[in-house]
Amino acid sequence: MAKTPAALIVDGDVQARFETKQAVKASGLTLAGECGYGMEAVSAASELRPEVVLIGVGEPLERPLQTAESLQSLLPDTPIIVYSDSKDIETIRKAMMAGARDFLTKPLRAGPLKASVLAALEAEEKKKLRQLGQLPAAPTAGTIITVFGAKGGVGKSTISSNLAVALARLESSSVCIVDLDNGFGDIAGMLDVKPERTIADMARDADQIDRDDISRYVARHALSELDVLAGCSVLEWRSLAPEQVRRVIELLATAYDKVVLDTSGMLNELAELAVDMATMILWVTTSEFASVNDSIHAFRALGHLNYSQERIRIVMNAISPDDVIRPSILQDALRRELFWSIPYDKRVRQGTHLGQPIVITAPQSSAAKSLIDLATVVAGGHVDSGRKVLGGFKWRPTGAPAAATEAP
Ligand SMILES: Nc1ncnc2c1ncn2[C@@H]1O[C@H](COP(=O)(O)OP(=O)(O)OP(=O)(O)O)[C@@H](O)[C@H]1O
Ligand SMILES: [Mg+2]
Repeated sequence: MAKTPAALIVDGDVQARFETKQAVKASGLTLAGECGYGMEAVSAASELRPEVVLIGVGEPLERPLQTAESLQSLLPDTPIIVYSDSKDIETIRKAMMAGARDFLTKPLRAGPLKASVLAALEAEEKKKLRQLGQLPAAPTAGTIITVFGAKGGVGKSTISSNLAVALARLESSSVCIVDLDNGFGDIAGMLDVKPERTIADMARDADQIDRDDISRYVARHALSELDVLAGCSVLEWRSLAPEQVRRVIELLATAYDKVVLDTSGMLNELAELAVDMATMILWVTTSEFASVNDSIHAFRALGHLNYSQERIRIVMNAISPDDVIRPSILQDALRRELFWSIPYDKRVRQGTHLGQPIVITAPQSSAAKSLIDLATVVAGGHVDSGRKVLGGFKWRPTGAPAAATEAP
């Protein structure tokens, strides 16, 4: 840890930035730079690579918190400390959900600021040592990534299957994909695996099994070592209670680093469960009016769930060659920032039908690159100037043996 860590100040209010700068200087920290929210912050952070980010958060919360989330994805190893006029518990909770390590109230004082920065950096250092195996691992549950979309046919299964394969091929990541489409989901077919059991079998046995028994219920996708928990027939789905499915997902999260949930295009109990349990929701939409409109309705409909919207990441998927839209238009319509965009590629469709995910059959295609980059970001790494190597993970090309993690 550097003796005088460099801090980037992100605040939309110039006067507040000035006051924070004074506190940074008084606390003996170095000033890496200062900027406003949004893209300005993203560019400054990627250029300056600060050791800590200080973000001023005030009403309306959306923009500063979205900025915090973007910076978290961009620099996952750099702690974010939020400061605010507010002591409101809801604001604090939202800031933490957006990735903040600590929350300080204004006026910022040198002592508490320094203590907070040093504690955050120390925690980060411990995390790194743990990853290197030099500290015992803290017990954790795996990340649950729900791929959701308010409409059928927008590419949810394509994205979830390719994402899961790409995640599984990233080193040191055990991944399971679960087909939660209780209509006619066919993740097993998309990956060309032949499951002997389904989620219905596991749900029925869920109370008697533990993590060591899971391998009996999943099928292995040999090329990626991804495990697949297949969906069941429509009739069997009807016989399953959401609580049984919840127990299955909880069990999987104790055994895998990442659990990817594919969902149907319907807003039913199962989709709500998948949204409720998610660490991160990849919300898929196309640029089509119906898809965007259904998303707006679904945001509203899910309001009663009391889930935090901060977990939502909007992914725009182009499923036809003329599916082109300016991201800003989509963002305005959805009132949310776009997290990812996947281009159209006709090989995606071929891959879907042949049971061959494009991230394996054509990893150099633009759609596959986008999906692999998405997996890298979701895995906690970040994509840097075209290389998908950072954050302790390395993409392994088809058939190549696992290689040592390359330094950034
Ligand atoms: N980026 C893309 N480029 C080209 N084709 C795509 C792309 N994404 C998805 N597709 C194609 O769009 C079709 C629908 O995709 P998919 O089955 O993944 O959608 P879905 O949202 O899971 O649908 P459902 O709601 O019916 O389960 C498939 O034929 C798939 O190959
Ligand atoms: Mg599907």
